[in-house]
Amino acid sequence: SHTCLSLLEAGYEVVGLDNLSNSHREAMNRVETLSGKSLQFYEADVRDVAALTDIVTRHDIRAVIHFAAFKCVGEAVEKPLYYYDNNVGGLLALLSVVAEQGIEELVFSSSATVYGGADELPFTEDTPLGPTNPYGQSKLMGEQILNDFAVAYPKTRIALLRYFNPVGAHESGEMGEDPEGIPNNLMPYIAQIAVGKRESLTVFGDDYDTPDGTGIRDYLHVMDLAEGHVKALDWTKQGTGVLTVNLGTGRGYSVLEVIQAFERVSGKDIAYTIGPRRAGDIAASYADPTRAQKELQWEATRTLDDMCTSMWLWQQKNPKGYAS
Ligand code: UFG
Repeated sequence: SHTCLSLLEAGYEVVGLDNLSNSHREAMNRVETLSGKSLQFYEADVRDVAALTDIVTRHDIRAVIHFAAFKCVGEAVEKPLYYYDNNVGGLLALLSVVAEQGIEELVFSSSATVYGGADELPFTEDTPLGPTNPYGQSKLMGEQILNDFAVAYPKTRIALLRYFNPVGAHESGEMGEDPEGIPNNLMPYIAQIAVGKRESLTVFGDDYDTPDGTGIRDYLHVMDLAEGHVKALDWTKQGTGVLTVNLGTGRGYSVLEVIQAFERVSGKDIAYTIGPRRAGDIAASYADPTRAQKELQWEATRTLDDMCTSMWLWQQKNPKGYAS
C-alpha cells in the first residue's frame, strides 16, 4: 500500500492485486485519499493464472512489482508446504503470465533473510547466502527462479530487492502495519504496548555478542522502502538483466535502542523483561547499502525516531488497525 502511494505520487498508474488474506481493502481507500488519485484494484490470488491473465489483458502493464508472499518465520517452519505453495507457486504463476504477455520489467521483494547468519558484517550483495528456514528458502528460490527467467527471456529487466527490517508507517498515520493477532515483530509489538493493548515485551536474549547483548537489526522506514521501489522501476526501464540490491540504511540498532527511541517519541514507558533467545534469530544484521546508492540513486533518509514517530501516530489513530 505504501508503494502504491509512492507510485501514484510519482505519476504512475497503478493496478493492484491482492487476495486480502493478510490485508484490508481499506488500505487501498487510504492510498486513494492520500494521493488524491485512483487506482484499479482486483481481489484475486496471485496463483490464479486465469485471473492474472484477465487483468493483464485488460490493462497495458509496463512493469510488475511482486509483493504477494507470506513472511512469518515461525509459521513457515510449521507449515513449509503452505509457504512454498504461496511464495514459490505464486511467483511461478505470475511468471507464466509475464512470459505469455511479454512483460519485460519486474521487481521482486526479496529479504535480508537470504543471508542467514553470515558472520561478515555489513551484508553486501556478495555475502554468502544461507537462509535458515523455509521462508528464507522461498525468497532465495524466488531469486534463483528470476535469475533463470532473465536468461531465458533476455529482454527482461529484473530488480531483486533485499529488504532489511521495514518498520514505521506513512507520516500521516493513515496507513501502517496491521498484523493479525499477536505481532511477531518488534516494532508493532512495542507500539501495541505503548497504546495499552499489550502489557510487556519479552526481549529475546541479552547475551548476544553485541554492545548491549541484544539483537541488532537494520530498521528501515517503510516510506524509504516504498521510494526504493519507484527507483527500482527507474532502473528496470533502462537497465539490463538482473540487479540484486540491498535496501537498508546501513546502520544497526539493538532491541534496547529501539525501545528507548519509542519511549522518547511516545512519552510512554515500554515494559519489558529479558527472556531466552528466539530460535533462529541471529545476533546482528545490517546492510551495506552502497550498491543501491550507485545503481538506484536511492538512499534511506528517515531516522529511527521518524520510524517510531510515524508508527506511534498510526497506532494512536488506528488502535484496531484498518478495522477501526
Ligand atoms: N525481538 C524481541 N522481542 C520480540 C520481537 C522481536 O526481542 O517480541 C527482537 C528479535 O530477537 C530481533 C529484533 O527484535 O533481535 C527484530 O525482530 P523482528 O521479529 O522484528 O525482525 P527479524 O529481524 O527477526 O525478522 C525480520 C522479518 C523477516 C525477515 C527478516 C530479515 O520479520 O520476515 O527480518 O532479516 F526475514
